[in-house]
Order: sequence, then structure tokens, then C-alpha cells
Amino acid sequence: MDQTDYKFKQKHLLGLADYSAEDIHYVLEQAKTFREVLDRPVPKVPTLRDKTIVNLFYENSTRTRLSFELAQKRMGADVVNFSAGTSSAKKGESLKDTIRNISSMKIDMVVSRHESPGVPHFLTRCVDAAIINAGDGAHEHPTQALLDMFTMKQIHSDLKGKKVAIIGDISHSRVVRSNIVGLKKLGAEVVVCGPKSLMPVFVETLGASISYNIDETLAWCDIAMALRIQMERITGGTDLFPSLREYHETFGIKMSHLEKYPDFMVMHPGPINRGVEMESLVADSDRAVILNQVTNGVAVRMAILYLLSGGSRMS
Ligand code: NCD
Repeated sequence: MDQTDYKFKQKHLLGLADYSAEDIHYVLEQAKTFREVLDRPVPKVPTLRDKTIVNLFYENSTRTRLSFELAQKRMGADVVNFSAGTSSAKKGESLKDTIRNISSMKIDMVVSRHESPGVPHFLTRCVDAAIINAGDGAHEHPTQALLDMFTMKQIHSDLKGKKVAIIGDISHSRVVRSNIVGLKKLGAEVVVCGPKSLMPVFVETLGASISYNIDETLAWCDIAMALRIQMERITGGTDLFPSLREYHETFGIKMSHLEKYPDFMVMHPGPINRGVEMESLVADSDRAVILNQVTNGVAVRMAILYLLSGGSRMS
């Protein structure tokens, strides 16, 4: 891409809906440099030494939280962690009061995860800091989609015309929305596949096509990304599909699929439910790049932290 006239002007990362294709390419190019740093014997670059960052996590997280924290520490930032479970949120303090109090401690960036869509947008109106969305309900999870696209680009350097299938609980996933939005901007084709009861209409308005047939989907795609059934977001009972066993039978990726369709690679944002979204052997096979996604997650988060802190691109 010719970036002569391009300037990265984003102040926050609330969702990929707000980022142009150029912005996405720019972040992914920066992430390449940090991915190389992570492979060094001493994987540190003290580029955020004078920055203070709060990780504001109102919802459970393992990978995303550790990944952000590691990215921040690799860059020498001062980091404070807030978990709703052990804080005054339990004593009835509102989100606005919590963030205002934290803000008076002079922070530069907030990484936010919350079960309600729109919380990161709300935070931009409460504090004078760069806000990064680490997942807001079933809305967006932009750093996950960025690391997914980074991982896809390691194999298919240009995603234009590449065929990406996203399989699973489409209705309750924030990963799917951010991925469709980002992948369409980079020119990929997207098919979503899953049970009818977990298939929202909005996916078509974002430019994805719908399939209810796993075999046809896997025969078509270059990349198959499986998503977890988001039990914690399924309200009103579990009558959306008969059982996890039947779900696996109908929509799970199996070793027999890998043999039958030798070209697609397997991704998953984690956490995996082995034996549900895919057979355990599939997750451990050489067609899966799931652990690479995790390593790339640190590099992509370093890139976004660095660029939103005002850094200009390093190579
Ligand atoms: C995803 C999430 O939390 O949205 N996981 C993640 O961030 N790695 C997907 C999930 O919870 O299934």
C-alpha cells in the first residue's frame, strides 16, 4: 500500500467499524515489527515508559487480559489492574464514578472489557484518555479481529478474495462482528455457518453470507474460524439447539474434514471447548494456528497501544 499521504489519526479503538482499510493495514504493519521483537532473547521495547494504563475488566477474561498486560509490560508501561469482582463496583459504585476516580490518578489509556455494548464509547465521554475496547458485550472485540487478520496474513499475505468461514454461535459473538467488518474492509469474502437459532440477520447487512451446511462451508473456505457457544450470553434457556453433542455432530470440525478438504487452516479465538466446536485432535493438528493467534495477540496489542499513545510507525 502506498502510504505517502496516509496519517494514522485514531485516538481510540472502540471498534473496527471506525477504522479504514488503511488504518487496519497500518496497525498490522506495526504489529509485524513487534512480532519480531517478541522473538528476540530479550523481548522488550521501552516505548511506553512514561505511560500509565488501567486495565478495567468487568467481565472474565484469561487470554485477552494477560495478552494486554504482557504487551504493556514488554513496552515498559506502568500498569494497574481493576477487576469488578474485587473492587468497589461490588459495593454499588457506578461505572462513571469508578472511572472518574481512576482518572484522577492521571492515566493515559484505559483497556476496557464489559458485558454491556457501548461502554467503551461511554468512557470516551468520561475521561481524557485513549480507550481500547477489549470486548463490549456481544458488540465488538476489535483487537481479537486484528490479531486474527494478522495471523491470516502470515499465511495468505493479501486477504483480498480470500474465503473465510466463521462457524458457531454467531448471535452471541463479538468476535464475529469485528471480524466481518475488518475482513470485508481488507477485501475478503466471509461466510458464517451455524444453527439457524444462533444466526442473526445483521450478518448479511455487514456483507457476510449465511450457510447452514458445514461440509459445503469447509469445502469452500481457505480459513475456518470456529467460535464457542457463548452459554453465559444465552438467556431464556438452552432450547436454541438440542444438545452440545448434537451441535458437535452437525457443526463441529472433525479430523475427517481435514482429510477431505486439505486446504483450509483452522483458527479459534479461545477458550476452546474441545469436542464441541472441534475434535480435540483438530485443535492440536498442524492445520490449526490457534497458539500462534495467542502470540500474535501480544504483538497486535503492542502495536495498538503504541500507536494510540502517539507513537509514529517504527520499523
Ligand atoms: C472471546 C471473547 O471473550 O469474546 N475470547 C477471547 O477474547 N479470546 C471469545 C469467547 O469468549 O468465546
